[in-house]
Amino acid sequence: MTASSSLSRRNSTTHLIGLLLGTENDWPRAFETLTKRLDPINHRGRQHHVDTERITIEPFDLRDPVRHDVVIDRLAWWYYHPREWLKKAALVNDTYLINNPFTFQAMEKHSAYCAMIRLGFDIPATVLVPYKNPVDHEKWAYTAESYNLVFDLDEVASRVGYPMYMKPFDGGAWRGVSRIEDNAALHRAYDESGQMLMHLQAAAQYDSFARSLTIGPETKIMRFRPELPMHDRYEVSHDFLPPEAGMEILTLSRTINAFFRWEFNSCESLVTGTSVRPIDYANACPDIAITSLHYYFPWAITQLVSWSVFCAVTGRRPRVDTNSREWYDVADDPDLNWADKLGRYALMSDQYFEADTYREFCSTALASLPEIVYDWITSAEFDALLMETVRSTYPPHEQERFLAHLRGLIGLWVADQR
Ligand SMILES: Nc1ncnc2c1ncn2[C@@H]1O[C@H](COP(=O)(O)OP(=O)(O)O)[C@@H](O)[C@H]1O
Ligand SMILES: [Mg+2]
Repeated sequence: MTASSSLSRRNSTTHLIGLLLGTENDWPRAFETLTKRLDPINHRGRQHHVDTERITIEPFDLRDPVRHDVVIDRLAWWYYHPREWLKKAALVNDTYLINNPFTFQAMEKHSAYCAMIRLGFDIPATVLVPYKNPVDHEKWAYTAESYNLVFDLDEVASRVGYPMYMKPFDGGAWRGVSRIEDNAALHRAYDESGQMLMHLQAAAQYDSFARSLTIGPETKIMRFRPELPMHDRYEVSHDFLPPEAGMEILTLSRTINAFFRWEFNSCESLVTGTSVRPIDYANACPDIAITSLHYYFPWAITQLVSWSVFCAVTGRRPRVDTNSREWYDVADDPDLNWADKLGRYALMSDQYFEADTYREFCSTALASLPEIVYDWITSAEFDALLMETVRSTYPPHEQERFLAHLRGLIGLWVADQR
Protein backbone atom coordinates (compact mmCIF):
# COMPACT_ATOMS: atom_id res chain seq x y z
CA MET A 1 0.00 0.00 0.00
CA THR A 2 1.35 3.47 -0.85
CA ALA A 3 1.76 6.21 1.81
CA SER A 4 -1.13 8.25 0.39
CA SER A 5 -3.50 5.31 0.19
CA SER A 6 -2.69 4.30 3.77
CA LEU A 7 -3.40 7.91 4.80
CA SER A 8 -6.75 7.90 3.02
CA ARG A 9 -7.60 4.59 4.68
CA ARG A 10 -7.11 6.21 8.08
CA ASN A 11 -10.08 8.51 7.38
CA SER A 12 -12.31 5.73 6.31
CA THR A 13 -13.65 2.34 7.33
CA THR A 14 -12.29 -0.90 5.93
CA HIS A 15 -14.42 -4.05 5.77
CA LEU A 16 -13.37 -7.58 5.04
CA ILE A 17 -15.52 -10.09 3.15
CA GLY A 18 -14.38 -13.71 3.52
CA LEU A 19 -15.02 -16.30 0.83
CA LEU A 20 -15.30 -19.91 1.97
CA LEU A 21 -14.83 -21.86 -1.23
CA GLY A 22 -14.81 -25.36 -2.66
CA THR A 23 -13.41 -26.01 -6.13
CA GLU A 24 -14.68 -22.91 -7.90
CA ASN A 25 -12.44 -20.13 -9.15
CA ASP A 26 -14.64 -18.28 -11.66
CA TRP A 27 -17.15 -16.33 -9.58
CA PRO A 28 -14.63 -15.76 -6.75
CA ARG A 29 -12.28 -14.09 -9.27
CA ALA A 30 -15.19 -12.03 -10.57
CA PHE A 31 -16.16 -11.09 -7.02
CA GLU A 32 -12.62 -10.07 -6.06
CA THR A 33 -12.11 -8.05 -9.23
CA LEU A 34 -15.40 -6.18 -9.01
CA THR A 35 -15.12 -5.28 -5.30
CA LYS A 36 -11.59 -3.96 -5.97
CA ARG A 37 -12.86 -1.81 -8.84
CA LEU A 38 -15.67 -0.41 -6.69
CA ASP A 39 -13.15 1.03 -4.24
CA PRO A 40 -13.73 3.43 -2.54
CA ILE A 41 -17.43 3.28 -1.72
CA ASN A 42 -19.00 6.48 -0.40
CA HIS A 43 -21.92 6.00 1.92
CA ARG A 44 -23.56 8.67 4.09
CA GLY A 45 -20.56 11.00 4.00
CA ARG A 46 -18.01 8.33 4.84
CA GLN A 47 -15.56 6.45 2.70
CA HIS A 48 -15.55 2.66 2.86
CA HIS A 49 -13.07 0.13 1.52
CA VAL A 50 -14.06 -3.47 1.04
CA ASP A 51 -11.31 -6.09 0.96
CA THR A 52 -11.86 -9.75 0.18
CA GLU A 53 -10.03 -12.82 1.40
CA ARG A 54 -10.28 -16.53 0.67
CA ILE A 55 -10.67 -18.25 4.01
CA THR A 56 -8.26 -21.08 4.85
CA ILE A 57 -8.95 -24.00 7.14
CA GLU A 58 -6.93 -24.43 10.31
CA PRO A 59 -7.44 -25.24 13.99
CA PHE A 60 -9.41 -22.52 15.77
CA ASP A 61 -9.93 -21.66 19.40
CA LEU A 62 -13.62 -21.11 20.13
CA ARG A 63 -12.70 -17.74 21.63
CA ASP A 64 -10.61 -16.60 18.63
CA PRO A 65 -11.67 -13.29 17.11
CA VAL A 66 -12.97 -13.31 13.53
CA ARG A 67 -11.56 -10.64 11.23
CA HIS A 68 -14.29 -10.86 8.60
CA ASP A 69 -17.38 -8.67 8.67
CA VAL A 70 -19.22 -10.88 6.17
CA VAL A 71 -18.59 -14.46 5.05
CA ILE A 72 -20.04 -16.01 1.89
CA ASP A 73 -20.07 -19.77 2.32
CA ARG A 74 -20.00 -22.26 -0.56
CA LEU A 75 -18.19 -25.01 1.33
CA ALA A 76 -19.80 -25.91 4.63
CA TRP A 77 -22.60 -27.97 3.08
CA TRP A 78 -20.12 -30.86 2.79
CA TYR A 79 -17.06 -29.89 4.85
CA TYR A 80 -17.80 -29.94 8.56
CA HIS A 81 -14.76 -28.20 10.04
CA PRO A 82 -15.53 -24.85 8.37
CA ARG A 83 -19.23 -25.45 9.07
CA GLU A 84 -18.51 -25.53 12.79
CA TRP A 85 -16.25 -22.47 12.42
CA LEU A 86 -19.21 -20.64 10.87
CA LYS A 87 -21.41 -21.50 13.83
CA LYS A 88 -18.80 -20.27 16.26
CA ALA A 89 -18.44 -17.07 14.18
CA ALA A 90 -22.21 -16.57 14.31
CA LEU A 91 -22.57 -17.20 18.03
CA VAL A 92 -19.34 -15.85 19.48
CA ASN A 93 -18.33 -13.14 17.03
CA ASP A 94 -21.62 -11.90 15.53
CA THR A 95 -20.16 -12.31 12.03
CA TYR A 96 -22.60 -11.74 9.15
CA LEU A 97 -22.97 -15.04 7.31
CA ILE A 98 -24.41 -15.77 3.89
CA ASN A 99 -26.14 -18.17 4.66
CA ASN A 100 -27.34 -18.89 8.20
CA PRO A 101 -25.47 -22.12 9.09
CA PHE A 102 -28.05 -23.26 11.65
CA THR A 103 -31.16 -23.25 9.51
CA PHE A 104 -29.14 -24.39 6.52
CA GLN A 105 -28.00 -27.51 8.35
CA ALA A 106 -31.26 -28.26 10.14
CA MET A 107 -33.73 -27.34 7.41
CA GLU A 108 -33.11 -29.70 4.54
CA LYS A 109 -35.58 -30.18 1.72
CA HIS A 110 -38.09 -31.92 4.00
CA SER A 111 -38.32 -29.01 6.46
CA ALA A 112 -38.60 -26.54 3.61
CA TYR A 113 -41.57 -28.54 2.21
CA CYS A 114 -43.20 -28.54 5.64
CA ALA A 115 -42.76 -24.81 6.20
CA MET A 116 -44.09 -23.86 2.76
CA ILE A 117 -47.06 -26.24 3.14
CA ARG A 118 -47.80 -24.46 6.43
CA LEU A 119 -47.70 -21.07 4.65
CA GLY A 120 -50.17 -22.32 2.03
CA PHE A 121 -48.01 -22.93 -1.06
CA ASP A 122 -49.13 -25.65 -3.46
CA ILE A 123 -46.56 -28.39 -2.74
CA PRO A 124 -47.34 -31.69 -4.53
CA ALA A 125 -48.55 -34.55 -2.27
CA THR A 126 -45.47 -35.83 -0.43
CA VAL A 127 -45.04 -38.83 1.91
CA LEU A 128 -41.94 -39.78 3.89
CA VAL A 129 -41.46 -43.56 4.04
CA PRO A 130 -39.26 -45.34 6.63
CA TYR A 131 -35.78 -46.56 5.70
CA LYS A 132 -35.62 -49.62 3.47
CA ASN A 133 -32.52 -50.97 5.22
CA PRO A 134 -31.81 -50.90 8.95
CA VAL A 135 -29.92 -47.89 10.20
CA ASP A 136 -26.51 -48.70 11.54
CA HIS A 137 -27.22 -48.53 15.26
CA GLU A 138 -27.07 -51.17 17.99
CA LYS A 139 -30.54 -50.21 19.27
CA TRP A 140 -32.17 -50.59 15.82
CA ALA A 141 -33.35 -54.22 16.03
CA TYR A 142 -35.20 -53.83 19.32
CA THR A 143 -36.75 -50.47 18.43
CA ALA A 144 -37.82 -51.55 14.96
CA GLU A 145 -39.36 -54.77 16.25
CA SER A 146 -41.23 -52.94 18.97
CA TYR A 147 -42.37 -49.84 17.13
CA ASN A 148 -41.99 -49.99 13.33
CA LEU A 149 -45.41 -50.63 11.83
CA VAL A 150 -45.53 -52.94 8.89
CA PHE A 151 -46.71 -50.83 5.96
CA ASP A 152 -47.91 -51.52 2.46
CA LEU A 153 -45.76 -49.52 0.05
CA ASP A 154 -48.24 -50.01 -2.81
CA GLU A 155 -51.07 -48.62 -0.73
CA VAL A 156 -48.99 -45.55 0.23
CA ALA A 157 -48.07 -45.07 -3.43
CA SER A 158 -51.67 -45.32 -4.55
CA ARG A 159 -52.48 -42.39 -2.26
CA VAL A 160 -49.69 -40.30 -3.81
CA GLY A 161 -50.59 -41.42 -7.34
CA TYR A 162 -48.49 -42.32 -10.40
CA PRO A 163 -46.32 -40.99 -11.90
CA MET A 164 -44.33 -39.91 -8.86
CA TYR A 165 -40.80 -39.10 -7.81
CA MET A 166 -38.82 -40.92 -5.16
CA LYS A 167 -36.10 -38.70 -3.74
CA PRO A 168 -34.07 -38.29 -0.56
CA PHE A 169 -35.60 -36.08 2.15
CA ASP A 170 -32.37 -34.07 2.26
CA GLY A 171 -31.58 -34.29 -1.47
CA GLY A 172 -29.46 -32.18 -3.74
CA ALA A 173 -27.74 -32.46 -7.13
CA TRP A 174 -30.21 -35.15 -8.25
CA ARG A 175 -28.67 -37.71 -5.89
CA GLY A 176 -30.98 -40.72 -5.59
CA VAL A 177 -33.86 -39.12 -7.56
CA SER A 178 -36.01 -41.39 -9.71
CA ARG A 179 -39.22 -40.93 -11.63
CA ILE A 180 -41.61 -43.81 -10.99
CA GLU A 181 -44.32 -44.86 -13.41
CA ASP A 182 -45.62 -48.09 -11.81
CA ASN A 183 -45.49 -50.57 -8.90
CA ALA A 184 -42.55 -52.53 -10.27
CA ALA A 185 -40.39 -49.40 -10.60
CA LEU A 186 -41.52 -48.30 -7.14
CA HIS A 187 -40.28 -51.50 -5.49
CA ARG A 188 -37.04 -51.44 -7.45
CA ALA A 189 -36.30 -47.86 -6.40
CA TYR A 190 -37.24 -48.48 -2.78
CA ASP A 191 -35.05 -51.60 -2.61
CA GLU A 192 -32.17 -49.55 -3.98
CA SER A 193 -32.71 -46.66 -1.56
CA GLY A 194 -30.96 -48.65 1.21
CA GLN A 195 -30.19 -46.30 4.08
CA MET A 196 -31.41 -43.18 2.29
CA LEU A 197 -34.58 -41.74 3.77
CA MET A 198 -37.02 -41.18 0.92
CA HIS A 199 -39.97 -39.03 -0.03
CA LEU A 200 -42.58 -40.18 -2.50
CA GLN A 201 -43.84 -37.10 -4.27
CA ALA A 202 -46.59 -36.79 -6.87
CA ALA A 203 -45.17 -35.75 -10.23
CA ALA A 204 -46.43 -32.33 -11.26
CA GLN A 205 -47.26 -31.72 -14.93
CA TYR A 206 -46.00 -28.40 -16.20
CA ASP A 207 -45.74 -25.98 -19.11
CA SER A 208 -42.56 -24.40 -17.79
CA PHE A 209 -39.95 -25.17 -15.22
CA ALA A 210 -38.84 -22.00 -13.45
CA ARG A 211 -35.66 -21.76 -11.48
CA SER A 212 -35.39 -18.61 -9.40
CA LEU A 213 -32.12 -17.41 -7.96
CA THR A 214 -32.46 -15.05 -5.02
CA ILE A 215 -29.69 -12.95 -3.51
CA GLY A 216 -30.74 -10.57 -0.73
CA PRO A 217 -34.10 -9.08 -1.78
CA GLU A 218 -33.55 -9.56 -5.53
CA THR A 219 -34.72 -12.55 -7.59
CA LYS A 220 -34.07 -13.63 -11.16
CA ILE A 221 -36.51 -16.16 -12.58
CA MET A 222 -34.96 -18.29 -15.30
CA ARG A 223 -36.48 -20.88 -17.58
CA PHE A 224 -34.86 -24.22 -16.75
CA ARG A 225 -34.62 -27.36 -18.87
CA PRO A 226 -33.75 -30.15 -16.40
CA GLU A 227 -33.63 -32.78 -19.14
CA LEU A 228 -30.69 -31.10 -20.91
CA PRO A 229 -26.96 -31.18 -20.00
CA MET A 230 -25.91 -28.59 -17.38
CA HIS A 231 -24.59 -25.96 -19.82
CA ASP A 232 -27.94 -25.88 -21.68
CA ARG A 233 -30.28 -25.99 -18.70
CA TYR A 234 -30.72 -22.26 -18.21
CA GLU A 235 -32.53 -21.08 -21.31
CA VAL A 236 -32.31 -17.41 -22.22
CA SER A 237 -35.99 -16.60 -22.29
CA HIS A 238 -37.86 -13.52 -21.12
CA ASP A 239 -41.51 -13.15 -20.15
CA PHE A 240 -42.12 -16.88 -20.32
CA LEU A 241 -44.53 -16.84 -17.36
CA PRO A 242 -47.98 -15.29 -16.89
CA PRO A 243 -47.47 -12.24 -14.59
CA GLU A 244 -49.43 -13.82 -11.68
CA ALA A 245 -47.21 -16.91 -11.74
CA GLY A 246 -44.12 -14.71 -11.93
CA MET A 247 -45.26 -12.71 -8.91
CA GLU A 248 -46.00 -15.85 -6.92
CA ILE A 249 -42.53 -17.24 -7.65
CA LEU A 250 -40.90 -13.95 -6.65
CA THR A 251 -42.81 -13.97 -3.38
CA LEU A 252 -42.20 -17.65 -2.74
CA SER A 253 -38.46 -17.32 -3.31
CA ARG A 254 -38.09 -14.41 -0.90
CA THR A 255 -40.50 -15.89 1.63
CA ILE A 256 -38.48 -19.09 1.93
CA ASN A 257 -35.32 -17.08 2.38
CA ALA A 258 -36.72 -14.59 4.87
CA PHE A 259 -38.37 -17.45 6.79
CA PHE A 260 -35.15 -19.49 7.08
CA ARG A 261 -32.73 -16.51 7.09
CA TRP A 262 -31.18 -17.57 3.81
CA GLU A 263 -29.96 -14.87 1.48
CA PHE A 264 -28.44 -16.76 -1.42
CA ASN A 265 -30.65 -19.60 -2.55
CA SER A 266 -32.31 -21.07 -5.60
CA CYS A 267 -35.81 -22.43 -5.95
CA GLU A 268 -37.47 -24.71 -8.50
CA SER A 269 -41.16 -24.36 -9.39
CA LEU A 270 -43.32 -26.11 -11.96
CA VAL A 271 -45.78 -23.79 -13.62
CA THR A 272 -48.99 -24.63 -15.49
CA GLY A 273 -51.01 -21.59 -16.57
CA THR A 274 -51.04 -19.41 -13.48
CA SER A 275 -50.61 -22.32 -11.04
CA VAL A 276 -47.22 -22.62 -9.33
CA ARG A 277 -46.01 -25.85 -7.72
CA PRO A 278 -42.69 -25.50 -5.89
CA ILE A 279 -40.69 -28.75 -5.73
CA ASP A 280 -37.16 -27.89 -4.60
CA TYR A 281 -36.11 -24.82 -2.70
CA ALA A 282 -33.57 -25.74 -0.05
CA ASN A 283 -30.58 -24.99 -2.27
CA ALA A 284 -28.79 -22.39 -0.18
CA CYS A 285 -25.42 -21.36 -1.65
CA PRO A 286 -26.24 -22.74 -5.09
CA ASP A 287 -23.96 -23.19 -8.07
CA ILE A 288 -23.42 -19.89 -9.89
CA ALA A 289 -20.60 -21.05 -12.17
CA ILE A 290 -20.20 -19.09 -15.41
CA THR A 291 -20.50 -22.37 -17.30
CA SER A 292 -23.96 -23.00 -15.80
CA LEU A 293 -25.38 -19.47 -15.59
CA HIS A 294 -23.68 -17.89 -18.67
CA TYR A 295 -26.12 -15.10 -19.76
CA TYR A 296 -27.34 -14.74 -16.17
CA PHE A 297 -23.88 -14.71 -14.59
CA PRO A 298 -23.42 -10.89 -14.73
CA TRP A 299 -26.74 -10.47 -12.92
CA ALA A 300 -25.78 -13.02 -10.23
CA ILE A 301 -22.32 -11.62 -9.55
CA THR A 302 -23.65 -8.05 -9.48
CA GLN A 303 -26.19 -9.07 -6.86
CA LEU A 304 -23.72 -11.08 -4.80
CA VAL A 305 -21.26 -8.18 -4.71
CA SER A 306 -24.02 -5.64 -3.99
CA TRP A 307 -25.69 -7.59 -1.22
CA SER A 308 -22.51 -8.58 0.61
CA VAL A 309 -21.05 -5.07 0.30
CA PHE A 310 -24.37 -3.66 1.56
CA CYS A 311 -24.24 -5.97 4.60
CA ALA A 312 -20.59 -5.06 5.31
CA VAL A 313 -20.81 -1.30 4.78
CA THR A 314 -24.13 -0.67 6.52
CA GLY A 315 -23.27 -3.02 9.38
CA ARG A 316 -26.42 -5.09 8.89
CA ARG A 317 -26.90 -7.26 11.98
CA PRO A 318 -27.04 -11.02 11.51
CA ARG A 319 -30.00 -13.05 12.80
CA VAL A 320 -29.57 -16.69 13.76
CA ASP A 321 -33.14 -17.02 15.08
CA THR A 322 -36.33 -17.25 13.02
CA ASN A 323 -39.76 -15.65 13.51
CA SER A 324 -41.98 -18.47 12.24
CA ARG A 325 -44.95 -17.37 14.39
CA GLU A 326 -45.38 -14.09 12.50
CA TRP A 327 -45.57 -16.00 9.22
CA TYR A 328 -48.00 -18.55 10.65
CA ASP A 329 -50.26 -15.75 11.90
CA VAL A 330 -50.63 -14.59 8.30
CA ALA A 331 -51.11 -18.16 7.04
CA ASP A 332 -53.85 -18.79 9.63
CA ASP A 333 -55.75 -15.51 9.21
CA PRO A 334 -59.26 -16.50 8.01
CA ASP A 335 -59.89 -12.99 6.64
CA LEU A 336 -57.06 -13.19 4.11
CA ASN A 337 -57.36 -14.91 0.73
CA TRP A 338 -54.32 -16.36 -1.06
CA ALA A 339 -53.51 -13.14 -2.94
CA ASP A 340 -53.67 -11.19 0.34
CA LYS A 341 -51.36 -13.68 2.02
CA LEU A 342 -48.86 -13.47 -0.82
CA GLY A 343 -48.97 -9.68 -0.48
CA ARG A 344 -48.23 -9.93 3.24
CA TYR A 345 -45.42 -12.43 2.71
CA ALA A 346 -43.87 -10.13 0.09
CA LEU A 347 -44.04 -7.23 2.52
CA MET A 348 -42.53 -9.23 5.38
CA SER A 349 -39.72 -10.45 3.13
CA ASP A 350 -38.99 -6.92 1.94
CA GLN A 351 -38.87 -5.74 5.54
CA TYR A 352 -36.53 -8.53 6.56
CA PHE A 353 -34.18 -7.77 3.66
CA GLU A 354 -34.50 -3.98 4.07
CA ALA A 355 -35.39 -3.92 0.38
CA ASP A 356 -35.95 -0.14 0.13
CA THR A 357 -32.75 0.75 1.98
CA TYR A 358 -30.84 -1.79 -0.09
CA ARG A 359 -32.14 -0.42 -3.40
CA GLU A 360 -31.28 3.10 -2.35
CA PHE A 361 -27.78 1.94 -1.39
CA CYS A 362 -27.41 0.30 -4.82
CA SER A 363 -28.47 3.46 -6.65
CA THR A 364 -26.20 5.75 -4.61
CA ALA A 365 -23.15 4.04 -3.04
CA LEU A 366 -23.01 1.37 -5.77
CA ALA A 367 -24.21 3.53 -8.68
CA SER A 368 -21.00 2.81 -10.62
CA LEU A 369 -21.32 -0.98 -10.33
CA PRO A 370 -23.38 -1.72 -13.48
CA GLU A 371 -20.79 0.08 -15.60
CA ILE A 372 -17.89 -1.60 -13.79
CA VAL A 373 -19.52 -4.98 -14.47
CA TYR A 374 -20.14 -4.11 -18.12
CA ASP A 375 -16.55 -2.92 -18.66
CA TRP A 376 -15.15 -6.02 -17.03
CA ILE A 377 -17.43 -8.49 -18.84
CA THR A 378 -16.39 -6.92 -22.17
CA SER A 379 -12.66 -6.93 -21.29
CA ALA A 380 -9.88 -9.29 -22.36
CA GLU A 381 -9.41 -10.17 -18.69
CA PHE A 382 -12.92 -11.63 -18.53
CA ASP A 383 -12.38 -13.55 -21.77
CA ALA A 384 -9.19 -15.00 -20.28
CA LEU A 385 -11.16 -16.12 -17.21
CA LEU A 386 -13.74 -17.68 -19.52
CA MET A 387 -11.02 -19.65 -21.32
CA GLU A 388 -9.45 -20.76 -18.06
CA THR A 389 -12.83 -21.85 -16.72
CA VAL A 390 -13.63 -23.81 -19.88
CA ARG A 391 -10.22 -25.50 -19.72
CA SER A 392 -10.74 -26.59 -16.15
CA THR A 393 -14.35 -27.74 -16.73
CA TYR A 394 -14.43 -29.64 -20.04
CA PRO A 395 -12.20 -32.28 -21.70
CA PRO A 396 -9.82 -30.91 -24.41
CA HIS A 397 -11.87 -32.05 -27.40
CA GLU A 398 -14.94 -30.17 -26.16
CA GLN A 399 -13.29 -26.93 -25.07
CA GLU A 400 -13.53 -25.04 -28.34
CA ARG A 401 -17.24 -25.76 -28.71
CA PHE A 402 -18.03 -24.72 -25.14
CA LEU A 403 -15.96 -21.56 -25.39
CA ALA A 404 -17.87 -20.50 -28.51
CA HIS A 405 -21.16 -21.37 -26.79
CA LEU A 406 -20.31 -19.26 -23.71
CA ARG A 407 -18.93 -16.35 -25.71
CA GLY A 408 -22.15 -16.32 -27.73
CA LEU A 409 -24.35 -16.18 -24.62
CA ILE A 410 -22.22 -13.54 -22.93
CA GLY A 411 -22.36 -11.59 -26.23
CA LEU A 412 -26.14 -11.78 -26.04
CA TRP A 413 -26.03 -10.29 -22.53
CA VAL A 414 -23.74 -7.51 -23.76
CA ALA A 415 -26.11 -6.74 -26.67
CA ASP A 416 -29.08 -6.64 -24.30
CA GLN A 417 -27.42 -3.96 -22.14
CA ARG A 418 -27.52 -1.40 -24.96
N1 LIG B 1 -42.80 -33.54 -7.96
C1 LIG B 1 -42.11 -33.44 -9.08
N2 LIG B 1 -42.77 -33.28 -10.28
C2 LIG B 1 -42.09 -33.19 -11.45
N3 LIG B 1 -40.74 -33.29 -11.54
C3 LIG B 1 -40.04 -33.47 -10.40
C4 LIG B 1 -40.68 -33.55 -9.12
N4 LIG B 1 -39.73 -33.74 -8.19
C5 LIG B 1 -38.55 -33.77 -8.85
N5 LIG B 1 -38.73 -33.63 -10.17
C6 LIG B 1 -37.67 -33.65 -11.21
O1 LIG B 1 -36.49 -34.23 -10.66
C7 LIG B 1 -35.45 -33.25 -10.58
C8 LIG B 1 -34.67 -33.46 -9.28
O2 LIG B 1 -35.53 -33.33 -8.15
P1 LIG B 1 -35.26 -32.25 -7.03
O3 LIG B 1 -36.35 -32.31 -6.03
O4 LIG B 1 -35.02 -30.93 -7.67
O5 LIG B 1 -33.93 -32.83 -6.37
P2 LIG B 1 -32.47 -32.22 -6.14
O6 LIG B 1 -32.56 -31.55 -4.81
O7 LIG B 1 -31.59 -33.38 -6.15
O8 LIG B 1 -32.22 -31.21 -7.24
C9 LIG B 1 -36.15 -31.92 -10.68
O9 LIG B 1 -35.30 -30.93 -11.22
C10 LIG B 1 -37.30 -32.23 -11.63
O10 LIG B 1 -36.84 -32.27 -12.97
MG1 LIG C 1 -33.40 -29.61 -7.80
